[in-house]
Parts: sequence; structure tokens; C-alpha cells
Amino acid sequence: MKAVNKNFHTPVLVEEVIRFLNVQDNKKYIDATLGGGGHSFEILRRGGSILGIDVDEEALDFVREKLKTQSSNLKTEGQLRVVKGNFKDVKAIAKENGFENVDGILFDLGVSSHQLDTPRRGFSFGKNGPLDMRMDKNLSVTAKDLVNALRKGELYELFSKLGQEYRARVISESIISARRLEKIETTGQLAEIVKRSLKGITKTHPATRVFQALRIAVNDELNNLREALSSSIGLLGNKGRLVVITFHSLEDGIVKQNFKEFEEKGSGTIIIKKPVEPTPEEVRSNIRSRSAKLRAFEKLM
Ligand SMILES: C[S@@+](CC[C@H](N)C(=O)[O-])C[C@H]1O[C@@H](n2cnc3c(N)ncnc32)[C@H](O)[C@@H]1O
Repeated sequence: MKAVNKNFHTPVLVEEVIRFLNVQDNKKYIDATLGGGGHSFEILRRGGSILGIDVDEEALDFVREKLKTQSSNLKTEGQLRVVKGNFKDVKAIAKENGFENVDGILFDLGVSSHQLDTPRRGFSFGKNGPLDMRMDKNLSVTAKDLVNALRKGELYELFSKLGQEYRARVISESIISARRLEKIETTGQLAEIVKRSLKGITKTHPATRVFQALRIAVNDELNNLREALSSSIGLLGNKGRLVVITFHSLEDGIVKQNFKEFEEKGSGTIIIKKPVEPTPEEVRSNIRSRSAKLRAFEKLM
């Protein structure tokens, strides 16, 4: 099915991405999380050529369509190569497409608004749909499989480690009791089970962390990130920039640690000591940007 949603995704920290990637005419970049192409099109407009990677066919379809309608306005027509793949394989993908020794690599982690807002993708506790959460439809395990098959202790570990959920024990118990009565098939069922098991009012929806944990596990997000970062440093040319936007502390911790190790090994410099966050104006106009943190590293050879 073709993605036709015009509001596929609103890119975050656009000016900052362009500045920290040091985007220039005729330079080569990799956008490892193409999504709706928001950042890639900004790079194209400035004359860069890009390899855009995503695991989600719907994102790739969307960008291919957008290229057809917009490329005539761009002097850089044909300079965005769209490739399906997992960024953990960025080294091989870059090599196959002649994108080694690049000037910058961008990771804008997490899910796109299209993924979150499309009920059948099963990412959102606010929109009822099948409990899926696979960014890549070729993955074999869905969130439904995990929720119905993991033992109580495994659910507890999952929610406490990947969701940083301090009420993981009571939530796991509720899931075990609920699934004795009927299989948990939908996002709505799971959200309701979590909500019922937790008393009291919370600032965010009570199922936020449970959904985060399942999404990270289904897509193996943290291992993919670790692998991708260590490959990326080898793909950058001298003064090439690695820019990463994260949306929760587990991801940010991995990026911070990797950048520190790169610096200790003499691979280059952390350009900004503290991560850059969106301005209050950006958060007001795009609430989903609120937890974004951008870190940047420059390779020196
Ligand atoms: C926040 S969105 C990117 C939005 C994009 N920067 C824009 O401006 O439209 C994250 C995208 O990364 C993709 N993604 C997540 N993990 C991935 C992985 N391991 N490999 C490739 N793409 C991935 C998702 O499918 C999603 O489309």
C-alpha cells in the first residue's frame, strides 16, 4: 500500500542538523533514518547528495513519490538515492552504493509520525489497532507475540529495562492475568490493561513506557544503534560529521558513550559537550520534538 499522507512527519531540529552536519554544495551525506525525507530534502536543497536508508517500505514509497513531484524544483535532481535497509548494515549499504568517505551521517532515531498515527502499524496506545510495532514488515516477531508469550519475569525485565518503568511488576502481573482470559491482540486492549493495573494520575499516558519497551524490543533498536554507530565512524572522511538525534535516555546514553570512546581512541572530537534541544517555539509548534536531543561528532584523520 502506498503512503500518501502529506503530514508524514515533521522533521525536528532542522536548522541544527544542517549546521552541525556542516552541509555544503557537492558534498556526500547518508541519512540513515530517511522517514518522510524532511532532513534529506533540506540537504538536497543545499546541493548535497544523499543516500537515504529506511527499513520501512511506507517511508521509502512516500519519499519516492515526493521526489517525483518536487525534484523538478531542485537543481540537484537525482541526487537522493533511496534504499531499503537496516542502519545496522550501514557499512555494507554505503559500500554497495558508493557512499564511503562521506561528509556527514545523520540518525534521527525512533518512529515517524506516520508510523505512530497509522493504527494498523500498532505503535500507539491512543489508536486502536493490531499490536504489531514492526518498523520492518519482514521482521517475524511482533509486539503481540512478546506480550502473549513472555513469562512474568521476562515481561518484568523488559518493562523495567527498556521502558524504565518502575511499576513493571504490577503491570506484568496484570498482563499475565488478562491473557489467561483472552489473547491480547490490540493496542487498545494492552493500553486498557496497563491503565487498570495502575492507580493514580500520571502526566503521560500510563502505557507510555510499556509501549516504548515493546517497540525497542520488537525492532532491536538499541543493538542496531550500537552497531550502526561503530560502523559509521569508519564511513566518514576527514572532518566528516556524525549527527544523532535521540528521543529517550537509553538511546542518548549509548550515543554519549560511543562519542566518548571515539574521542578517547583519537578518532575526532565531540563538537558540542551538551546535547542541543529544540527551542520552546519548536516544541510549541511540534510537541513530538519535546524530548529530542542532538549530539554531534567530527572525525579527524
Ligand atoms: C524519526 S523518523 C525519521 C524522520 C526523518 N528524519 C524526516 O525528517 O522525515 C525515524 C525513521 O527511522 C526509521 N528507522 C528506525 N530504525 C531503523 C533502522 N534500524 N534502520 C533503518 N531505518 C530505521 C523508521 O522506520 C523511521 O522512518
